[in-house]
Amino acid sequence: MSGGYKFVVVANRLAVDAAEDGGWKRSPGGLVTAVHPIVRRLGGAWVGWTGGPGEAPEPFEFDGMRLHPVGLSEDEVDRYYEGQSNATVWPLFHDAVEQPVHHREWREAYETVNRRFADATAAVAAEGATVWVHDYQLMLVPGMLREQRPDLRIGFFLHIPFPPVELFMQLPRRADILRGLLGADLVGFQRPLAAQNFLQLSRILLGLEPKEESVEFGGRTVVARAFPISIDVDEIEREAADPEVQAQARHLRQELGDRRLLLGVDRLDYTKGIEQRLKAYRELLAEGTVSNDDVVLVQVATPSRMRVQQYQDLRERVEREVGRINGEFGEVGRAPVHYLFQSRSRAELVAMYLAADVMVVTPLRDGMNLVAKEYVAARVDDDGTMVLSEFTGAAAELDASFLVNPHDVEDLKRGLCAALAATPEDRSTRMRAMRATVKDHTVDRWAREFLDALGGAS
Ligand code: ADP
Ligand code: G6P
Repeated sequence: MSGGYKFVVVANRLAVDAAEDGGWKRSPGGLVTAVHPIVRRLGGAWVGWTGGPGEAPEPFEFDGMRLHPVGLSEDEVDRYYEGQSNATVWPLFHDAVEQPVHHREWREAYETVNRRFADATAAVAAEGATVWVHDYQLMLVPGMLREQRPDLRIGFFLHIPFPPVELFMQLPRRADILRGLLGADLVGFQRPLAAQNFLQLSRILLGLEPKEESVEFGGRTVVARAFPISIDVDEIEREAADPEVQAQARHLRQELGDRRLLLGVDRLDYTKGIEQRLKAYRELLAEGTVSNDDVVLVQVATPSRMRVQQYQDLRERVEREVGRINGEFGEVGRAPVHYLFQSRSRAELVAMYLAADVMVVTPLRDGMNLVAKEYVAARVDDDGTMVLSEFTGAAAELDASFLVNPHDVEDLKRGLCAALAATPEDRSTRMRAMRATVKDHTVDRWAREFLDALGGAS
């Protein structure tokens, strides 16, 4: 069976999430931020889940995109999404900064749901279509799809890190996952090292003979390369130039008095190093290196995966630490940390980026980190500094930031102090260098390079 679309994007999440009021809201996370403008521009269909349990709604149009929902039962949300995807694969692929949990029923649900995504994709893809599968929730889909539809060009992009061989080897049924990925014609990663890990694994696990950027599998050549992802720079620049957004940024600064603003914007995830950031800030306050009269930290943390135990535990720890810092160093009407456990609109985020003196991005491990790129794109004034973890994909491109090792609290403190102390000339030199990089590597370019390499539509 084949459908009518020449270009199909497949991702666990659709661009929109079912909202409580029965409408739709933008889905969280970097994947949607990056892929949304591409599908809007290229057209085609997007196969994905609406973010809640139950039957799939009928396909619908949204913001110029044709969305094809895949339904998940409550049990599948529990086992495939919260379990195998986010309590097994997510921590394992992020250096096991939290202990991965393994359950047979989760793996079975992962396979069942991946099969459903493959079937739904096979049903909408036209003869010879280009299909682009995304991320760690769907690693079996390329192989399953190829079995049904050998006529398709299949690309896969992993938005998160690909682990070193010895970590991947911990994954039960690891060879099935690898074979699933090898069903693609092109497997894209954020960093060259990830592509190397993948190729090396094909040798160790399956006895294949990888070359520098490819490997032969099942009579086909599978190419594995890095394609560092990016953002829609024009969209952010437009927001930053909007007088209302600029007024919002000024208002925020007035609200905070004459204190300098340290800003964190993340999903509330243990990979983001939020606890490490808070600890460093508390120590700086305790030592008197920074003072509550002079500096304030605003941390915006989007609720994420809140039914997963590790995320509930993280929330408790973060909120306890925020309370502790505010209790120890605050005054009436003047808290050292403003913690917002909320999702904010794009315009509000850009206003915050514009208002910040120091953007604090400290993941313990992150495939790319689009927040870092959004901040740079928003700084049309060439001002503002950034403390950035070496363990993000973004660090390779944004090395004019203040790079830190977030596992080392002293190094984090050093980075924060250096960023706060930077002179206006230094700030502007660094920001100009980072802006040139981000403006040159847009998400459009990322998609074009990937699709050109896949040899499909663009
Ligand atoms: P991840 O994909 O792990 O969430 P990224 O930094 O790559 O991390 O992407 C996060 C995306 O989610 C960015 O586009 C960012 O603007 C958005 N985002 C993060 N925190 C919030 C928030 N509190 N409110 C709204 N959007 C957010
Ligand atoms: C990261 C992942 C995405 C995921 C997003 C939000 O960006 O790479 O695949 O969609 O986080 O997480 P969620 O579990 O809410 O989809």
